[in-house]
Amino acid sequence: MADHQRFELFADLLVRRFPEKKRVYDVAGGMGKLNVALRSRGRECLSFDRRRKHLDVPFAEREFTLDEPCAADLVVGMHADGATRIIVEYAAQHRVPFAVVPCCSDNSMPYKPWMRHLDELARGLGLHTEEVLLPMRGRARTLLGWP
Ligand SMILES: C[S@@+](CC[C@H](N)C(=O)[O-])C[C@H]1O[C@@H](n2cnc3c(N)ncnc32)[C@H](O)[C@@H]1O
Repeated sequence: MADHQRFELFADLLVRRFPEKKRVYDVAGGMGKLNVALRSRGRECLSFDRRRKHLDVPFAEREFTLDEPCAADLVVGMHADGATRIIVEYAAQHRVPFAVVPCCSDNSMPYKPWMRHLDELARGLGLHTEEVLLPMRGRARTLLGWP
């Protein structure tokens, strides 16, 4: 069961670690709760998710792909499922930092190898990475990356 505090905790981490980044893409944003948490911390945020039911926040009701034009200076994803890999590739493509809190992989890879794979993917694409643990229940390992 995912922690209900996860959006506040992740938003605090993002503001602390990326203080100068003001325009955030929240990929696989679900209901848009991370968007609310980021906006309350002075960030512009656009959430992407194919779901139609969400909070009244800036929201692109579509699949996030590598073809999305980049108007962000930080791209993030909380438990973004198959979009997690796309976030890492997108960040490398546009030379912007990323932060992901991975849960399930897009190909049934177990959690630990999935975390290792994402880190190797990012470093292979020329990003440097750091892992941080959010103080929450459930999948809490967080991978940060910078160009
Ligand atoms: C486990 S939910 C997490 C939602 C939210 N981030 C949270 O923590 O509650 C995963 C979400 O990823 C979305 N998703 C998966 N791949 C996506 C993609 N390529 N673009 C946009 N949304 C995607 C799904 O629609 C789903 O809402």
